[in-house]
Amino acid sequence: MGGAYAPAGLFVGREQELTELRGWLTDAQAGRGRLAVLQGEPGMGKTRLAEELGAVASGRAVPVVWGRCPADTGAPPLWPLRRIVSQLPGSHHRLPSTGDEDFGSSAEGSAAARFAQFEWLADAIVQAAEPNGLLVIVEDLHWADSTTAAALGHLAGELPRSRALVVITARLLPASAAVGDVLGRPGVMQRQLAGLDRNAIVAYLDSVDGGRVDQRYADLVLRQTAGNCLFLGAVVRLLAAGVSLRSYDEDAARATLAGRRELIDLVREPMGRVSADCRHLVETASVAGDDCSVTELVAA
Ligand SMILES: Nc1ncnc2c1ncn2[C@@H]1O[C@H](COP(=O)(O)OP(=O)(O)O)[C@@H](O)[C@H]1O
Ligand SMILES: [Mg+2]
Repeated sequence: MGGAYAPAGLFVGREQELTELRGWLTDAQAGRGRLAVLQGEPGMGKTRLAEELGAVASGRAVPVVWGRCPADTGAPPLWPLRRIVSQLPGSHHRLPSTGDEDFGSSAEGSAAARFAQFEWLADAIVQAAEPNGLLVIVEDLHWADSTTAAALGHLAGELPRSRALVVITARLLPASAAVGDVLGRPGVMQRQLAGLDRNAIVAYLDSVDGGRVDQRYADLVLRQTAGNCLFLGAVVRLLAAGVSLRSYDEDAARATLAGRRELIDLVREPMGRVSADCRHLVETASVAGDDCSVTELVAA
């Protein structure tokens, strides 16, 4: 509940993104809250950026609560929001059920019950944000159930006059109905997280090496990973174990990375629901780098 967040490990780049997020937190603390969606590929650093914002909030004594939309089917509707409500500062909150005893079991009755639940939820968050602000982070909207997405969409409309900042993370693809439902609401801010840039990768390599690396490795890593933080971590770990990062040897670097299982495994999880041929193609591409033509890839 509002614990201090101190994300572990190296953090580079993202200055602009953090500046904007800090500004949104300042706005929220001043009574101009909002709901923002950070979108990006898996491994692009959405969670990590949210953690860094959590640390900023903790440093300002702003409570931080987290919820996550679970990948497993079978979680009850609104599960992420129930978790969030249970962590809100102040009295112990529990989301009321949509009992037929209050609203009847007709279609209008259920819609009214749902609306009442959404209102209750928004009120709980708005009240918990007094007096010094509140940061709510909801992870992985692409896995949200439709009720959670509708509740978040409803919440977006209540935040501009509150001290709450709600930051939601979501994958870019595949586009899910839940993501579309939230993004389509008025007042929702949307940001796409791109890959880390060359400067950030140089900083990353310097930190890993503890000195000044040959910057041509940054170009190579950028080509291999497009700045995806998850791939970057794996590629740099492999490189640092195989070559000296202070003297450039492109052939040795490429040989170090070629066909590595660690890199292939990284693309498996997001690839879960595609055909075996497609998965093979992407796995091959994941270790081929960008100098490989499509014809060569298909032949592989
Ligand atoms: N700016 C960054 N600097 C260094 N490492 C990062 C950065 N952003 C993310 N990472 C690391 O990259 C990996 C993937 O990031 P993560 O935030 O989990 O991605 P996503 O949530 O977009 O799937 C994690 O190990 C994370 O710590
Ligand atoms: Mg994440």
